[in-house]
Amino acid sequence: MPNIFKCCVKDESSEKAFVKTDFGKMETDFGKMESNFNKIETDFGKMVFADQVNGHGSCPFNSAKILTVENEKQVKPNLRLKVPQPIRLKNHLAGEENFDLLHSQIEDVSFNTKCSAAVCQNSIMDIPNRGDTPRTVEEVYKEAQAFLKQYFSSIRRENTDAHVKRLQEVEEELKRGDTYQLKTAELVFGAKLAWRNASRCIGRIQWKKLQIFDCRAVTTASGMFEALCNHIKYATNKGNIRSAITIFPQRTDGKHDYRIWNPQLISYAGYMEPDGTVLGDPARVEFTEVCVKLGWKPPHTAWDILPIVVSADGKDPEYFDIPREIIMEVKMEHPKYEWFKDLGLQWYALPAVSNMRLDCGGLEFTGTAFNGWYMGTEIACRNFSDSNRLNVIKSVATKMGLDTESYVSLWKDKALVEVNIAVLHSFHRDNVSIVDHHSASEQFIKHMDNENKSRGGCPSDWVWIVPPMSSSLTSVFHQEMALYYMRPSYDYQDPAWKTHQWTKNEGDKTRHRKFHFKQIARAVKFTSKLFGQALSKRIKATILYATETGKSEQYAKELGTIFGHAFNAQVHAMSEYDVFSIEHETLLLIVTSTFGNGEPPANGEVFAKHLFQMLCNEKKSLDQVDSAGTNNKIPTPKSLLRTNSVMTPSMEYKKQLSRMESRNTNVNDYKRQLSRLESNKSNMTGTSSADNIGPLSNVCYAVFALGSSVYPKFCQFGKTVDKILEDLGGERLLDLTCGDEMCGQEQQFRVWSSNIFHVACETFCIEENDMVKDAKKAFGRMPLTEETVRFGRTDKKCDMKSGLEHSYKKKLISCKIKQTKHLGEHTADRATIFVDMESEDELKYEPGDHVGIMACNRTEIVDAVLERLKGVDNYDKAVQLQVMKETLTPTGAVKTWECHERMPALTVRDIFTRFLDITTPPSTKILKYLATVCSDQNEADYLKELIEDSNKYDDWRHHYFPHLSEVFAQVPSCRPQASLLAALLPQLQPRFYSISSTPLQNPKRIHVTVSVVIYKTQNGEGSTHYGVCSTYLQSLKPDDEVFAFIRRAPTFRMPQDVSVPLILVGPGSGIAPFRGFWHHRRYQIKDSNSKKPGPIFLLFGCRYKGMDLYKDEKEQAIADGVLTKALVALSREEGVNKKHVQALLQDEGAHVTRMLVEEGGHFYVCGDCKMAEEVQQKLKEVIKTHANLSEEEVEDFILYLMDENRYHEDIFGITLRTSIVHKASRETAKRTRLESGS
Ligand SMILES: Cc1cc2nc3c(=O)[nH]c(=O)nc-3n(C[C@H](O)[C@H](O)[C@H](O)COP(=O)(O)OP(=O)(O)OC[C@H]3O[C@@H](n4cnc5c(N)ncnc54)[C@H](O)[C@@H]3O)c2cc1C
Ligand SMILES: Cc1cc2nc3c(=O)[nH]c(=O)nc-3n(C[C@H](O)[C@H](O)[C@H](O)COP(=O)(O)O)c2cc1C
Repeated sequence: MPNIFKCCVKDESSEKAFVKTDFGKMETDFGKMESNFNKIETDFGKMVFADQVNGHGSCPFNSAKILTVENEKQVKPNLRLKVPQPIRLKNHLAGEENFDLLHSQIEDVSFNTKCSAAVCQNSIMDIPNRGDTPRTVEEVYKEAQAFLKQYFSSIRRENTDAHVKRLQEVEEELKRGDTYQLKTAELVFGAKLAWRNASRCIGRIQWKKLQIFDCRAVTTASGMFEALCNHIKYATNKGNIRSAITIFPQRTDGKHDYRIWNPQLISYAGYMEPDGTVLGDPARVEFTEVCVKLGWKPPHTAWDILPIVVSADGKDPEYFDIPREIIMEVKMEHPKYEWFKDLGLQWYALPAVSNMRLDCGGLEFTGTAFNGWYMGTEIACRNFSDSNRLNVIKSVATKMGLDTESYVSLWKDKALVEVNIAVLHSFHRDNVSIVDHHSASEQFIKHMDNENKSRGGCPSDWVWIVPPMSSSLTSVFHQEMALYYMRPSYDYQDPAWKTHQWTKNEGDKTRHRKFHFKQIARAVKFTSKLFGQALSKRIKATILYATETGKSEQYAKELGTIFGHAFNAQVHAMSEYDVFSIEHETLLLIVTSTFGNGEPPANGEVFAKHLFQMLCNEKKSLDQVDSAGTNNKIPTPKSLLRTNSVMTPSMEYKKQLSRMESRNTNVNDYKRQLSRLESNKSNMTGTSSADNIGPLSNVCYAVFALGSSVYPKFCQFGKTVDKILEDLGGERLLDLTCGDEMCGQEQQFRVWSSNIFHVACETFCIEENDMVKDAKKAFGRMPLTEETVRFGRTDKKCDMKSGLEHSYKKKLISCKIKQTKHLGEHTADRATIFVDMESEDELKYEPGDHVGIMACNRTEIVDAVLERLKGVDNYDKAVQLQVMKETLTPTGAVKTWECHERMPALTVRDIFTRFLDITTPPSTKILKYLATVCSDQNEADYLKELIEDSNKYDDWRHHYFPHLSEVFAQVPSCRPQASLLAALLPQLQPRFYSISSTPLQNPKRIHVTVSVVIYKTQNGEGSTHYGVCSTYLQSLKPDDEVFAFIRRAPTFRMPQDVSVPLILVGPGSGIAPFRGFWHHRRYQIKDSNSKKPGPIFLLFGCRYKGMDLYKDEKEQAIADGVLTKALVALSREEGVNKKHVQALLQDEGAHVTRMLVEEGGHFYVCGDCKMAEEVQQKLKEVIKTHANLSEEEVEDFILYLMDENRYHEDIFGITLRTSIVHKASRETAKRTRLESGS
């Protein structure tokens, strides 16, 4: 860059740089502009202007009233009011034109510009500003309104209730106390926008990538110093400079300002010697004298780092030496001239302007420090070569043997080039970020282009933007620019020593040395506990989770607890998070599982959609292709997530590209977009280049993905989120980690959470302190103990329905069983049942939706578990599970018992029957506890071995698949405390069933088709296990009560248009939703107004003839014309060819292809995910053959079906597998693990 403040401090001596411009040339070209302005097209949109454009010859800010009606009238009486007046800006190299419209957004020009209608004073050093008088409340409110409008528009919430409410809040706050506080997100937005608006900054392409340290809570000078040290450390980042701003409390009455007196945080002292020469940096002579007067003892060398001088709350200043170890300096050498290093030149790595004021939302932040990184010319041309600075040019030229007597030898120019080479070379050598002026210029032109497209203009000060050497060789020289000032802004202010109101007499100033020694001591250990508490918690860490069965939520909350020790940690479900604020995040941690077939959990869907939308907006060229009238669709998140899992999403984009290419569409823009991020690495050192400046370029992130490696799309949603965040410019702090349910997921999470905490602390320069140590302890600590959990007494027993509703945070429906019956033939280990339930009220569902059932554990397992527990006298008496909370109060830590958040007051038996998962093999966390309560050491050791060796644990888990009572049987001496075990066990999850009925038949009734899960463990040799919910449903009798809820499945619906053909593929209980479909269709047909119904093909599969579910019903449906075909594949029937549904698909290939390719048909598949994968594969083969398509085209077609919502999947998971399939899955999991090397 361009260092961020290059814009504001043209050179570091505050001397004016005279940049000669080729105005003569410009005028000639401007002459041509007046014509042809009736119709202008810009990238910013199409505009039609009947009238003449602003003349370019005059400064757009020729008067404070330029945009007032009065003024417009004076100048152009016939102008139409409120029509934006574009300023035409030409690039004289490329010959391209752009039109600035942004300037017309400035409503109130209160900048004190010196320009007049006749005279442009643009080269005058001071940026016009509004002076030092505090604003009145009215003025503040007006500015606040304008700012909040920008803020709410940035988060797409302009004119919403939230916007109105915020304005009211501000108004009330102002009425109460003359000022108001910006919310953190507003301040973050404002600070970035102020940089974006900084017309003198060439490095603004980086404007989104700015770390904000919100230090508005700091009240003392020492607090300010500590914050600034933190800033220096963070920003220096071992040379890989990061842009940052520290912001201290805003101005109140003007008498309590917070100021940093140094023009830059790091700078070299300058001493005026008796002979009139200067030792050190001449630009700092005045400030050095201020420091000395304050009591600073100068070492008196040429390279003394000045102390930091700050005044807090209007009090007299204090000074602090900066610990040398946090300052990075670069010693200069030349790649060719050995003698160069003997000049003894050096410079500091971090340019951090610290005397400017942030004007944002009507508030003035008088104490700010902000940094970018250096552009080489700032050091080489200005600091080293200006004649009133270090002035090394002549020495360099002499060493080079140049003729310094005559200007025409161009010795100055030649020497200057070599000094610049030396600076760039030395920074590169030390891996310190720096940018050369050519790259910076290119980047700025690109930035202007971006800004013209997204914002309609880019206020720019040509005089400052053009680098101080080789000007016409840089692209910015040839670019016309419009200069105007917008808020939020960074403004100049008078040096603090000129305006400060001393509380002591002038002569007493030197007494302030009392801070000296104490503060140096403080400075050395500025990473003290206080520092940690005061600063680190100001960095926000947002933790988002998406979950179906609760694990991700549990992990996210644990992560929140850990990060809460050192960050301002906030945990949200993705569905509750305002995704528009994502751009303002600093640290974003994602914990999410994958569901369906590579899809997000339900509460991650909206987030996924928004994220994807952001990505599409970024890749605008895709939009352009779309709007160009082609049929290309931007892939939806669905198709993106569902396509072949082995492909990363980025490959998906590339695939999309090749598809477009094959269709001969205009893909050049898109290609450019794709290659941009890869190729745009500027000639920068370190990673802080101009690449990856997406909307999330300021966001550091990491993703933990939960999944199961038996699914082909293993952790796909987490992978996709991780990739999209990267593509949006986010900075990945840690590689994606996939936690495999089949293999050590919990362990993987523990390692990941510890690693990410460590990396985050390092990234944000959070040092080891007590809080961080506490957090680290939390990794190995079990927060719940026998002492901190208990079953408390309760008088009020909760009723079951409200207890479940409270615990599961769901509204439940109470249903009565009308009937359960077997479907088809059944054996001891294989049965499918039909369940008919009736609710009290009408149900709101559609065929394709699911019903969630709140199940009960089997009585025999519950009894066996209860038998082992200690600490409860009566399992049938209501109790309240309580956990101990410790709160810090002014009088010390207070311990209180609080109700467990998800356990209602019920009996222990109820709790273990309805609320706790006691059949999934216990996690290592639980085994760890069980090991501690085994009185037999051998048994404890047995459990410990499982805990410590994750392979052993996995093998044990999969061989025995033991439920809790079976674990107890393996360790007979184990006697856990009932309450602690209840707090540690996971929640019993509701099970989903695809609804097999239609509300058109009876809106109070629900039918489900349930395959009863019964299997033997230990490869079929062990004990018999019964699926919790399916056997619970099987055991129900008429009139028994069931608690349930409806889960909408909007992607698995029948099409509105009944004439559309449907292909339904569902083996086994996969037929469930399709029964709902054909019943629904029957009622649709009855409706005389309905169109002629389209064909429905049903492809069903089962083992034997006798297991053909709903056989009679299907036959009737065919007879009635509801179904067109109902085919059955038998896989184990003697004397019949073994067939699966895939084979049926093959047999019906020609039909199916026609229905999908030509007749707009819908394809549905329901059942386990492996079958769904195989069906999709077969469908591709079939279509490829019958539609004569290439591999690529078929892939494309399936994606297209998904995007059109014509390819539907209803995935049950892997629950209905036989032990053989289950074993195969495990082998796959093992293989995956080996391949991934984990
Ligand atoms: C969206 C959706 C819709 C669904 N629709 C239906 C439907 O319409 N009909 C239907 O029957 N099911 C359906 N299911 C499945 C259903 O939700 C349950 O998963 C299923 O009934 C099993 O639940 P359970 O409580 O009886 O078994 P659980 O107690 O959950 O036991 C199942 C677990 O046992 C283990 N297991 C199973 N077989 C073996 C084996 N051979 N060896 C070792 N371990 C084994 C597996 O770990 C499996 O996860 C659907 C699932 C989803 C997600
Ligand atoms: C119906 C169903 C579908 C699933 N689909 C996938 C999948 O496509 N990919 C995957 O990696 N895991 C899949 N899983 C496994 C879950 O992601 C895994 O169980 C995870 O640990 C659940 O975390 P949660 O409790 O936060 O939702 C699926 C699980 C079920 C029950």
